[in-house]
Amino acid sequence: MKILVTGGAGFIGSHLAEALLERGGHVVCVDNLRLGSKDLIRHCFDDPRFEFYEFDVCDTEKLGALFAERAFDRVYHLAANSDIQKSGADPAIDYHDTFLTTVAILDAMRKHNVKELLFASTSAVYGDKRTLLREDAGALSPISYYGAAKLASEAFISAYAAMNGLAVNIIRFPNVVGERLTHGAIFDFIAKLKANPRELEILGNGRQDKPYIYVADLVAAMLAMEYTAGVEIFNAGVETSTTVTRIADIVCEEMGLKNVEYKFTGGEVGWAGDVPRFQYDLAKIHAFGWTAGHTSDEAVRLAVRGSIR
Ligand SMILES: NC(=O)c1ccc[n+]([C@@H]2O[C@H](COP(=O)([O-])OP(=O)(O)OC[C@H]3O[C@@H](n4cnc5c(N)ncnc54)[C@H](O)[C@@H]3O)[C@@H](O)[C@H]2O)c1
Repeated sequence: MKILVTGGAGFIGSHLAEALLERGGHVVCVDNLRLGSKDLIRHCFDDPRFEFYEFDVCDTEKLGALFAERAFDRVYHLAANSDIQKSGADPAIDYHDTFLTTVAILDAMRKHNVKELLFASTSAVYGDKRTLLREDAGALSPISYYGAAKLASEAFISAYAAMNGLAVNIIRFPNVVGERLTHGAIFDFIAKLKANPRELEILGNGRQDKPYIYVADLVAAMLAMEYTAGVEIFNAGVETSTTVTRIADIVCEEMGLKNVEYKFTGGEVGWAGDVPRFQYDLAKIHAFGWTAGHTSDEAVRLAVRGSIR
């Protein structure tokens, strides 16, 4: 299969590209390297079935030329903004990188008759619901520009699928962790503790409590999807969760640090737009036949080990 992975030089995209190559695919990555890095996919460059292009997915001229040349069988659209705190101060970032990239991909698929799409969505589309989150929950009310841009993307996917006979799987990821992190609490804590191993600033009150999925488990879910005309939405996650303070404890344990003083900035949320706790209803994806292989705490510990090596 000839596959396009957008955001392929990012954290999750790099793992996905590697797994697709292992399965014998021809993988073309597009990334503007604003948040990702060629270092994350350096090991793929030796494979003759791997190609990398550095450009913005919203550059419709370059994207159109690539679609015209390559005749893709499927697109995995992962390119998006992942710095949610930064877009809190500048909503245009999520409008461009998270929403307009999706529109650009959908329109290229329409023009070049590509039918299969997997879209990387997020728990942030639900907003701060405080109930078990089901895929068929009623009105969704994101509380971040990022969540809004993903929900708007889902709406455009629905329309493009209906108008053009696309077969789409939307997976709403929870927090994803593993080797090659580019952002997030684990990434930040390790960097802060390397700079000062005596104290650690923790955003919020540390009681934010969310499910963390191990990246290899998520990639397995992405690869298990089946493609039939229409749009299927799946929550993918784990039934367990980890508090931010527990993450700090695990990072300290794995870095061999004792008596680190935690300095909480206070408040229920880490930053504006942060959803402090959520849990998914996973009945749909479990019935489909996929279950994560690691608990949330195990995922966090593996990610820390992979990041401090
Ligand atoms: N990591 C998580 O916890 C998490 C949770 C929910 C959803 N997601 C989604 O999964 C996907 C991958 O996230 P990630 O954690 O690997 O983030 P990441 O930042 O490591 O990867 C995203 C990649 O997209 C690229 N990109 C951004 N805008 C682009 C543009 N306009 N044109 C070309 N490339 C562009 C970046 O340079 C980066 O390499 C994203 O869609 C993200 O919203 C991630």
